[in-house]
Amino acid sequence: MPAKTKQKSEYVCSSCGHISIRWFGKCPGCGAWDTLVEEKVEPASKEKSHAMLSGSDAPVPLSRIDASDHEARIPIDVEELDRVLGGGLVAGGLVLLGGEPGIGKSTLLLQILMRLSRRGMKVFYVSGEESLTQIRMRAERLGKCPEGLWSMCECSLEKIQAAIKELEPQFLAIDSIQTMSAPGLSSAPGSVAQVRESTAHIMQMAKSMAIPTVIVGHVTKDGAIAGPRVLEHLVDTVLYFEGDRSHSFRLLRTVKNRYGPTFEIGVFEMTEGGLRQVTNPSKLFMGSHAGPVAGAVTVPCLEGTRPLMVEIQALVTPSHMAMPRRTTTGIDSNRLAMLVAVAQRQLGLPLHEQDIFVNVAGGLKITEPAADLGIIAAIVSSFMEKPIAPTAALFGETGLTGEVRPVGRTELRLKEAARLGFTSCTVPASGLSGISMPEGMEILPVRNLADAVETVGLTAG
Ligand code: TYD
Ligand code: MG
Repeated sequence: MPAKTKQKSEYVCSSCGHISIRWFGKCPGCGAWDTLVEEKVEPASKEKSHAMLSGSDAPVPLSRIDASDHEARIPIDVEELDRVLGGGLVAGGLVLLGGEPGIGKSTLLLQILMRLSRRGMKVFYVSGEESLTQIRMRAERLGKCPEGLWSMCECSLEKIQAAIKELEPQFLAIDSIQTMSAPGLSSAPGSVAQVRESTAHIMQMAKSMAIPTVIVGHVTKDGAIAGPRVLEHLVDTVLYFEGDRSHSFRLLRTVKNRYGPTFEIGVFEMTEGGLRQVTNPSKLFMGSHAGPVAGAVTVPCLEGTRPLMVEIQALVTPSHMAMPRRTTTGIDSNRLAMLVAVAQRQLGLPLHEQDIFVNVAGGLKITEPAADLGIIAAIVSSFMEKPIAPTAALFGETGLTGEVRPVGRTELRLKEAARLGFTSCTVPASGLSGISMPEGMEILPVRNLADAVETVGLTAG
């Protein structure tokens, strides 16, 4: 009797790609809820090769490999973009551009394509989401449509590959990977198997023809569509386009880069005529008050290698609830809880009777502990109804015992503060050796929280 061939299934997390043999409500890999989707296990076929790179069969000494022309970068000549890419596009490099729908990925991509084609490059935009008319209308909105910009509306990778072979473009953009379907795979476009397979196909194409390629991946909360995270390990560079819909600025963040540094950011502003780079972003995140106000503090934060002056605002009001409110935008609420506890204990303030709201101006998210001192100073300033001088900045990590710990890149932060007209800065005392101070800046080194609030004039009485 022939053995029954039962079609096997596996359950794949559409957020992180974790595979398990049975369904879970919560992904054992990343902890997300309701993201596991059933996928049929395809029998491995001989012609379906997963080899992404074709190289030599025998081992070779690495010293004999010529990599001199690999260093050649294709700069886009937009400072904010080239920085996040580590200097520009790389021939055969595959970039994943992730972000929520509507954040501006297609707009950014089209602007890059138009820019490159104006320089005489033959560029190719493949869209599985919009019609040619829609793309043309968008291009018109962004400027005059150049000649060397080729476009195609297609979801079948087989047809796209044939078109690429014929066109031989110098730059390729695929918008988006979740609409593509790879040959010989029955699962629906957008499933984990499809996006992975499609990416592998595009990767092979990009490497073999040495075309710099960008693929768009939507970040979705819906578990039915695989997110760009499942592709991060496949591609060379991962960029995420972020921003708050209610604000016009957008951040392009490098999460992974085989050709350059990570955690860089590029700052853009969404305007009527597309995205515009912001070369002086500190202005976006600083307050514009007519005079000193209580509860507002400016902190020199770092995003990648980029210093940004960011205003932190706090509002402290007497609470009428058994559990006073702690509400944050732009900072972690657990961090706030800790900082409030430290301030209460170390400075002796009765914050347990107060509602506390903390907000980062401009919609930015701050994760680095260097903002600790600033957050506490804003809270104390609001509580005491005493403003801090608008020309005073401060930064430093605060420990549970109220000690102020050093943070990285002190010099860079001080320089940015001085550049924007700040005249004094409270800094961790132990991070100052070997640092050249910017001219006209008064440095106030502190070792603990009590000293820190004193330097900015927040003392009782
Ligand atoms: P889009 O690039 O379509 O987003 P994604 O590809 O990430 O889904 O961006 C769409 C948004 O951008 C839409 O809300 C309109 C806005 N927009 C402008 O404000 N100005 C412009 O010039 C363009 C083209 C779009
Ligand atoms: Mg789009």
